Amino acid sequence: MHHMVNLNLNYDDPIKIAENIYWVGFYDKLSGLHCNPYLIVDGDEAVILDGGSRPDFPTVMTKILKTGTNPSAIRALIYHHYDPDLCGSVSDYEDIIEGTNLKIMSTAENNHFIHHYGPSTKLTDIADTNNRFTFSSGRTLQFIRTPYAHSAGSFITYDEQSDVAFTSDLFGSYSKQWDLFIALEEVCRSCDYDDLCPNEKPYCAISDILAFHKMVMPSNKALHHAIKIILQVSAGMIAPQHGSVIPSQADFKAIGARLLDLNGVGIDAIVP
Ligand SMILES: [Fe+2]
Ligand SMILES: [Fe+2]
Repeated sequence: MHHMVNLNLNYDDPIKIAENIYWVGFYDKLSGLHCNPYLIVDGDEAVILDGGSRPDFPTVMTKILKTGTNPSAIRALIYHHYDPDLCGSVSDYEDIIEGTNLKIMSTAENNHFIHHYGPSTKLTDIADTNNRFTFSSGRTLQFIRTPYAHSAGSFITYDEQSDVAFTSDLFGSYSKQWDLFIALEEVCRSCDYDDLCPNEKPYCAISDILAFHKMVMPSNKALHHAIKIILQVSAGMIAPQHGSVIPSQADFKAIGARLLDLNGVGIDAIVP
């Protein structure tokens, strides 16, 4: 599926990344670590992926409201792992969502930790829902495990209908120069230098992506295993929780190929 890259985006607004899918993150110009919570709307229901930190919540909720979504339409909060940049606002969501239909979903390994953010809703183990979330319409979000990348219970979400894979920290970046969407130039797709640009470009998004994975992922082995799994998903768009959305399959595959043989990841940089 082909996705367009939008230009002239106003990051104070929610940004539509695909039909009925919105980026509702906080563009914090002072931070290199941008968090990307996403909203999926399906009829009169909605789902939030990696809802965001506690300090980001007013910005994120304002953007959800700006899409015209009533918070009480939110049926599920999906957390791909248990970090505070994803889960910190879980209780704030509960406070604003009316009714008893809300599911808070993650793996059992993550739920042990998410519990300590203090949600009052009973946490759902995705293994008990056949690793999927299904809207009333029948639209299905598939959950695919990427163990130890970077948490024991980490997983990603693939939305069949839009062909978007939400990969959480995988394919993320600590980007010095941020845009919501990235598009690689042809010379960059095949470039294998990860420090100084051989084409003398002023900024290399790929080197920031690689540096982020070296820092956040625990080992070469964990990263390579997770990337191998994600490359089997034929997604047309990658929507990570940090860094930029990758709206082309060719760029997804090119960046995936780089991550698949990245070395010096996590402990492998310390104990070679
Ligand atoms: Fe994380
Ligand atoms: Fe993160």
